[in-house]
Amino acid sequence: MEIFSDKFLNCLSEQYGDSFYLLDSEVFEKNYVDLQAAFMRYYPYFNIAYSYKTNYIPKLVKIVDRYNGFAEVVSDLEMDIALNSRVKYERIIWNGPIKDKLRVEELLINGGTVNIDSIEEFEYIKEIAAKYKDKTICVGIRCNYMVGDGVLSRFGIDVESSEFDSILRTISECENIKLVSFQSHFAKRSPEYWNARAEGMIKIYNYSKSKYGIIPERLDLGGGIYGPMPEMLREQLGVTETCYEDYACRAAKVFAGAFQSESDKPMLVIEPGTALAANSMRYVCRVGTIKQVQKKTIATANGSQKNISLLGINPPMEVIHVPTSQHKRYDDLDIAGYTCIESDYLYRGYHGDLGVGDYLVFENCGSYSLVMKPPFIFANVPVIDIGNGKIELIKRAETFEDLFSTYVF
Ligand SMILES: Cc1ncc(COP(=O)(O)O)c(C=O)c1O
Repeated sequence: MEIFSDKFLNCLSEQYGDSFYLLDSEVFEKNYVDLQAAFMRYYPYFNIAYSYKTNYIPKLVKIVDRYNGFAEVVSDLEMDIALNSRVKYERIIWNGPIKDKLRVEELLINGGTVNIDSIEEFEYIKEIAAKYKDKTICVGIRCNYMVGDGVLSRFGIDVESSEFDSILRTISECENIKLVSFQSHFAKRSPEYWNARAEGMIKIYNYSKSKYGIIPERLDLGGGIYGPMPEMLREQLGVTETCYEDYACRAAKVFAGAFQSESDKPMLVIEPGTALAANSMRYVCRVGTIKQVQKKTIATANGSQKNISLLGINPPMEVIHVPTSQHKRYDDLDIAGYTCIESDYLYRGYHGDLGVGDYLVFENCGSYSLVMKPPFIFANVPVIDIGNGKIELIKRAETFEDLFSTYVF
């Protein structure tokens, strides 16, 4: 059966309801392999730490683990996703500004890495190191440095501050704290900043090596990479370079130039989320009503902008007609979401045929969608994997009990 036919969607909707995510785990896996190959072509000592927060579907995080990638988590909740997916502690890297102390202790004494984001955090890591003298405590430092993107980041330790030096000095004097990584992340996804990201990081590495004799195993440049996307999305986002090569030829090439001796090569790590997940998921919903308000025609769907995450731009969308919809031609129709938020529109200015009951299939919905959808008005919809020619339910629809068993009635 053709995948994007009314027959196929009817089949799924009879079983799972009128709104659902279609995951293609094969696409996610291909992205992983392609991204890895792009960077390894320039600098083979490379690995990926997948950003769980972007899309933490267990099936996806298990793919990353199968390829020996790291789990990049930012909370104890995300650490539990990793552990429940049988990811070993040593493969977990914990970033983020606020961390649960007991869980940090658990991760550290089991061989995971915690990236220090503040001096307060370093204080309790020192206490953990003092408590477990027989254990090696592996830490990284989230480094705050400028790359010319005009953003003053609130994360990490300012590498030009005395705090940065004081942390390095203490680590160099402490027998069981090992600095395994310097890490950074910059939110802007344009490849133009990736030379500066890499050069800034190498400068920090050289400084730490020469001044404190501390040589980390890994240099982690964080995430902020676009994934494959259709032309219309690229145009609306105003980006020209978005393929993996555009990032690799900057960052990995800089590393290859700086680390030429075989014996002295830190591992280059990146933390992609969007780059792997965005085009691996589609969102499907249906047109519920079509009305006229003054001169404007507005269709309302049983899906919301909150389901697809893209805001202020038109996502790539396909309309699949059903025979009963009596669809007809519209010009400049807006497609609104189910919430009571006035600005909840999934698509503006649609030109084409549409009818009540038609399916709307939105592409590129895999990044910060499912994980950021609030339980506002409706619970979350199921996720169905259509990768590898199979149909597999990997998250059922959320129920009233799922959401409200924590409340006291
Ligand atoms: C520390 C860190 N790493 C990785 C990512 C993933 O970013 P992206 O989805 O842009 O690749 C983020 C996103 O905020 C982040 O904060």
